[in-house]
Amino acid sequence: MKEIDLSTKLGEITLKNPVITASGTCGYGQELEDYMDLEQLGALTVKGITLQAKTGNPVPRIVETPAGILNSIGLENPGLEGFLADKIKIIKGYQLPVFVNISGYSIEDFVLLAEKLAEISCIAALEVNVSCPNIPGGGLAFGTDPELIYQITKQVKAAYPGSVIVKLSPNVTAISDMAIAAQEGGADIISLINTLQGMAIDLERQKPVFANTFGGLSGPAIKPVALRMVYQVAQKIKIPIIGMGGIMTGQDAVEFLLAGASAVAIGTATLIHPDAPLMIIKEIKAYLQDKKINNIQEIIGKVLN
Ligand code: FUM
Repeated sequence: MKEIDLSTKLGEITLKNPVITASGTCGYGQELEDYMDLEQLGALTVKGITLQAKTGNPVPRIVETPAGILNSIGLENPGLEGFLADKIKIIKGYQLPVFVNISGYSIEDFVLLAEKLAEISCIAALEVNVSCPNIPGGGLAFGTDPELIYQITKQVKAAYPGSVIVKLSPNVTAISDMAIAAQEGGADIISLINTLQGMAIDLERQKPVFANTFGGLSGPAIKPVALRMVYQVAQKIKIPIIGMGGIMTGQDAVEFLLAGASAVAIGTATLIHPDAPLMIIKEIKAYLQDKKINNIQEIIGKVLN
């Protein structure tokens, strides 16, 4: 049998395989270097950065649920300055596309980040995070309003010459409207879904576990919701999709590809098995081998009407 072609395209960006790390689950790459050869990945998406450094929310920040986790990290990150001073030199050495996730409290924050990051040639794309559920007045506040998604996307595109990914929240009624707004604003790629808003209660204290009350649910519990949303969005937009949400195995990843995603991102699985993305690449390949398919493109969107 011929070598299986796993390569896929996200607009202008070619990935050697469709498996990407989800932002917030691989630090800035270096944190996973002891567990896997990062260069075997399709791409790496690093933890979101904001203009100013953030220490994040008070602990506890993670709660286990029967089929996933709730997180309330609060976008802990070194800020633009710390990112440029300490992280970029490491990222520069990676021979694979690196996507940088950005968050803000206003459209101006996103634009300033985009302008500064436009000067860095080793970044393959910006992932505009309009979907973090854990920072009051940012993230989710943008991601539930199509007009704001359109405005942020348009202004980031004007400030940044490279590829722009818009990361959508599932905490909306009509996900396709959000994706269409991003596409109309000029997005090159859509990624979905971020976490579903949830909560946990501490029975001893009789209070919410998180200082922020709510957190974001990820892991296998959200996979059916994520898959449904990827399927719905793929029917409405022309730009490529990175599908994510509870992908734990290669079989899960193949479902997202069949539903119309051109690539997939792995998040919670990596927190359990740090080399999960590599195992998932192998399992996708084994599925294609079993079905006697030589090119992954043959399955992308196959389930769409
Ligand atoms: O709280 C956090 O840092 C999570 C970010 C996100 O879900 O985008």
